[in-house]
Amino acid sequence: MLDIRQLFAGYGRLTALKGIDLEVAKGEIVFVVGPNGAGKSTLLKTIGGLIMPSAGSIEFHGKTIVGQVPEKNCLSGLALIPEGRHIFRTLTVEENLALGGMIHKDKRAVRSDLEHVLDIFPILRHRYKGVAGHLSGGEQQQLAIARAILQRPSLLMIDEPSLGLAPLVIDQVYESLRKLNAEGLTLLVVEQSTARILDLADRVYVFRNGHVILHGSAAELAGGHALEEAYFGYAEHQPQA
Ligand SMILES: Nc1ncnc2c1ncn2[C@@H]1O[C@H](COP(=O)(O)OP(=O)(O)OP(=O)(O)O)[C@@H](O)[C@H]1O
Ligand SMILES: [Mg+2]
Repeated sequence: MLDIRQLFAGYGRLTALKGIDLEVAKGEIVFVVGPNGAGKSTLLKTIGGLIMPSAGSIEFHGKTIVGQVPEKNCLSGLALIPEGRHIFRTLTVEENLALGGMIHKDKRAVRSDLEHVLDIFPILRHRYKGVAGHLSGGEQQQLAIARAILQRPSLLMIDEPSLGLAPLVIDQVYESLRKLNAEGLTLLVVEQSTARILDLADRVYVFRNGHVILHGSAAELAGGHALEEAYFGYAEHQPQA
């Protein structure tokens, strides 16, 4: 579904992605993890069309999307929830959700999608007329996901959904992602921490300093210490065997 080859991107003279190869197949949940400044957010912004890559290719459903504006990406089934969620805090839950469905003309379908997301996130039904800025962090994350779902994406990219949330709330958010995936949504999720992701992930990429330094299936990475070593860079300090 998503096929990225030798992707380079950055900010002016700073190169944040240094030759990334990454794939997401239909139906997968793929995680990208790595420490601060590894390039994770830059990857999502580049795929979403907010940053123009300096080299490499990005194909979505077999078509190149390099240079395509974010609105066009959205219409072709790509949704991005950026770092910090970006909900409209002064608008109500209802108004935030209405913005999600705006790109679709079939209002009856939008209405039924809305009922569906309110079933998945009952708290949003409960707080429907309330101001989004008054929701808790976990509820705001659910609102951001719900709004993105109303765009009817085939691939949803989320930047650090667990940021600032208590462990129990992270479990709830991850459970909703699991449900959406079971309904056919493909997910590309960025997290800083490797904790908790292996239950949900099909595959994991570890980024450091603009490079993929490890990737594999969750099953391959679950045993052993490869993930921790890659993440924390212990391997670098080990003497050569
Ligand atoms: N708007 C920007 N302008 C200039 N440099 C930036 C900008 N955003 C990020 N960078 C730099 O690009 C590199 C990659 O940043 P990026 O935000 O992709 O990292 P990240 O993996 O998402 O980190 P974090 O876990 O802290 O969110 C870093 O060196 C960062 O300082
Ligand atoms: Mg980031």
